[in-house]
Amino acid sequence: MISSKDRGLGIQDSVNSGAIVFPESGILHPEHGFRVVITGASGGLGLALAQQYLKQGAIVAAIARRKELLQALAAEFPGQVHCYALDIRDAAALQQAACDFISRAGLPDVVIANAGVSVGTLTEYAEDIDAFAEVMEINVLGMVKTFQPFVALMRNAGHGTLVGIASVAGFRGLPGASAYSASKAAAISYLESLRVELHDSGVKVITLCPGYIKTEMTANNPYTMPFILEVDEAARRMVHAIERQTAYAVIPWQMGMIGSLLKILPRWLYDRLFSRAPHKPRKRLSQPH
Ligand SMILES: NC(=O)c1ccc[n+]([C@@H]2O[C@H](COP(=O)([O-])OP(=O)(O)OC[C@H]3O[C@@H](n4cnc5c(N)ncnc54)[C@H](OP(=O)(O)O)[C@@H]3O)[C@@H](O)[C@H]2O)c1
Repeated sequence: MISSKDRGLGIQDSVNSGAIVFPESGILHPEHGFRVVITGASGGLGLALAQQYLKQGAIVAAIARRKELLQALAAEFPGQVHCYALDIRDAAALQQAACDFISRAGLPDVVIANAGVSVGTLTEYAEDIDAFAEVMEINVLGMVKTFQPFVALMRNAGHGTLVGIASVAGFRGLPGASAYSASKAAAISYLESLRVELHDSGVKVITLCPGYIKTEMTANNPYTMPFILEVDEAARRMVHAIERQTAYAVIPWQMGMIGSLLKILPRWLYDRLFSRAPHKPRKRLSQPH
């Protein structure tokens, strides 16, 4: 076991005491010594999730590109946050971060692939091809690269939870958001494949599909967003779903109902209803905003 001195954190040795999982009840209890890896922890939902776990006493690996925001989080919760300023498109950097976190804190109990980008795209514009590639690389491949370093280790340990943040936008193809919708549909299918692959291994895979949440991502949406949640409330509900080890959840539940309706809507009716839906604005994806 690595001592708290070696970890340089001044944290208790309970950090390495193993996951607190009760398979009979399927409930995961975050407590002191709980370890969570979160991508996109510099803002929005990822930051709110990190804060909720940190308030419960967890040790958190906070991953995103904007170092200063990660450092601000670390300053808010001294001794509990390991910051990794990196781009989740960089598999080697993620592997290095995973190695470092495991050597300092131990194998994480929960890994949340939350980082994502959203931008309007239209296939008719050649300049949007780069935006398509970026959205797919971050929202889909970034999720794969986030989980990759942990899967075999968790399988060997016989426990661990991998959480992917997908979206209701992945249920049907939304006009003007083709890249985003396609990326979230891919994420939903990918997470299902992974869940089946890890069936009976002790490793849980959880798909969370948020509706609308008040974050920078939705700040300039030029349309009404039904049942939009405050970011802290969304994070609270997601932490609860993760604790319950729910394999799949739409948050809030009202968007789950809308999503279920959307899925069964016949194609001709869906096309007619959504052909006039307002589009997400097209713009160049920003590098670290
Ligand atoms: N907001 C909603 O209504 C909504 C609805 C459904 C699903 N979601 C999903 O929820 C997740 C979080 O969204 P949000 O609303 O919190 O968005 P946000 O406020 O824009 O935050 C996105 C986070 O992802 C990080 N990120 C983006 N690209 C990255 C990259 N290449 N490498 C590392 N980090 C990266 C950003 O950090 P840096 O810029 O510092 O790298 C930031 O921390 C996303 O997957 C999103 O698709 C959101």
